[in-house]
Amino acid sequence: MEETRSVPQHVAIIMDGNGRWAKKRGLPRTAGHYQGAKVVEQILYDADAMGIKYLTVYAFSTENWSRPQSEVKTLMNLLRTYMRTSLQKCAKNNVRIRVLGDRSKLDEDLIEAIDDLERDTKNNTGLQFQIAINYGGRDDIRRGVMKIAEKVRSGELDPASITEETVSENLDTADIPDPDLLIRTSGELRISNFLIWQCAYTEYYFTDVLWPDFNKEELQKAVDAYMHRERRMGGLMQ
Ligand code: IPE
Ligand code: IPE
Ligand code: MG
Repeated sequence: MEETRSVPQHVAIIMDGNGRWAKKRGLPRTAGHYQGAKVVEQILYDADAMGIKYLTVYAFSTENWSRPQSEVKTLMNLLRTYMRTSLQKCAKNNVRIRVLGDRSKLDEDLIEAIDDLERDTKNNTGLQFQIAINYGGRDDIRRGVMKIAEKVRSGELDPASITEETVSENLDTADIPDPDLLIRTSGELRISNFLIWQCAYTEYYFTDVLWPDFNKEELQKAVDAYMHRERRMGGLMQ
């Protein structure tokens, strides 16, 4: 008999393919990013309605700074608008918002908007929404190691007592369970430096659909695929 699992508690998404979506239509890449931002807003509600508790999206990687300055600027402006409009709306709908990544490299007003949202939604008990900006998995681990090293230096932590939990607790995702399902759109079969520590036992789902075309049906397909998988986590079949 085929076993089915419950809905994944934590879904992470590498939202890729905005540029190709625009190119296919003869539009500037920016148009793809605008459409992509609209899709995030909708998916957040769809995920919540499906019973997903944590949703984490990759919006800007530590490597994305190497894009042309004009594209970086567009992406930052989009994030700025997104923080001030749609995420404000989410905040009123009991969504808790957290930003992963090294925010110190962002513009001051953006940092302020992030700090405000995190503070204002701290006690919200609905969907837990994480957005990764200037995020890199290696950089997350590097910053975590720095925090641990500081604790060792101050005598707060004995190096011999460092466990995997110690590492997890010092990452941007401290207090957030590891993703159960990672979705990547646009047909690329790689992790591109997203949550590399946290996705050690995550189920991966790849689709050719470009992010601006992603919708509730596509999310449902990914969740269904997950529910029919057997997660062994290194053990034997039950
Ligand atoms: C994903 O779409 C959005 C970001 C990385 C910010 P891309 O901009 O990478 O789109 P493609 O991969 O060029 O199609
Ligand atoms: C990954 O997409 C980063 C985000 C979706 C924010 P990229 O388009 O930057 O990744 P690569 O360059 O294809 O690996
Ligand atoms: Mg891409």
